[in-house]
Order: sequence, then C-alpha cells, then structure tokens
Amino acid sequence: MITIGMNYHVIPGKEGQFENAFEAVTNVLSKAAGHDASRLYRDCKEPNKYLIISQWSDEAAYRAFVTSEAFRNVTNWGASEILMGRPSHQVY
Ligand code: HEM
Repeated sequence: MITIGMNYHVIPGKEGQFENAFEAVTNVLSKAAGHDASRLYRDCKEPNKYLIISQWSDEAAYRAFVTSEAFRNVTNWGASEILMGRPSHQVY
C-alpha cells in the first residue's frame, strides 16, 4: 500500500475549477487497477489550500499514473492556470 499526500495552494477564485479537475481525475482513477481511493481535503482557515490523499495498492500502477500523458496534461494546466505554485508532497 502506498499513501501519497499532496498539498495544493490554489489561486483565489479558482477553487471550483480545481475541485472539478479533481473530480475528473478521480473518475478516471476509479477505473484504474491498483488505485484504491483519492480524497480531497480543504483547509477551513485558508479555503484555497487543499490536501489530496491518494492510496494505491500497487506501486507500478501509481508510477504509471504519475508518468501518464493524461496526468501531465492536468499538471501542466494546473501549474499554468490554477495553482499558486508547485504542489508539495506530504510525507507521513
Ligand atoms: C486524484 C487527483 C490527483 C492526484 C492523486 C494527484 C497526485 C499527484 C502526485 C502524486 C504528484 C507528484 C508527482 C511526482 O512526484 O512526480 C502530483 C503533482 C502535481 N499535481 Fe496532482 N494529483 C491530483 C490532482 C491534481 C489536479 C486536479 C491538479 C491541477 C489542477 C494537479 C496538479 C499537479 C501539479 C502541477 C503537480 C506538480 C507536477 C510537477 O511539477 O512535476 N494535481 N499530483
């Protein structure tokens, strides 16, 4: 089991677009073998700050996801349009 935490700082006003993009990615992931669940958490005090917790039962499936072209399209769009800066890993 792999659990990844990612911290996202969204440009104020773009929270809805970020949440919709998260939904779109999780819809694809729900059909991916080796992916268990991904959840989106929002900071109550700073509502443009989010945490994604993503659980995978298969490391190869996780690697295939983060190196996929589809995911690169999301991250490129996110980096240029939605996020204040590069998301950071959360290690538990
Ligand atoms: C279920 C949804 C998502 C999961 C599980 C996820 C997971 C991850 C992971 C694990 C990384 C680190 C990859 C690495 O170490 O190379 C990452 C990076 C990133 N993610 Fe997400 N992410 C999700 C949704 C999103 C969305 C919706 C956006 C944008 C709106 C986004 C934007 C980014 C960006 C910009 C990076 C940095 C890419 C880089 O500079 O290499 N992610 N994400």
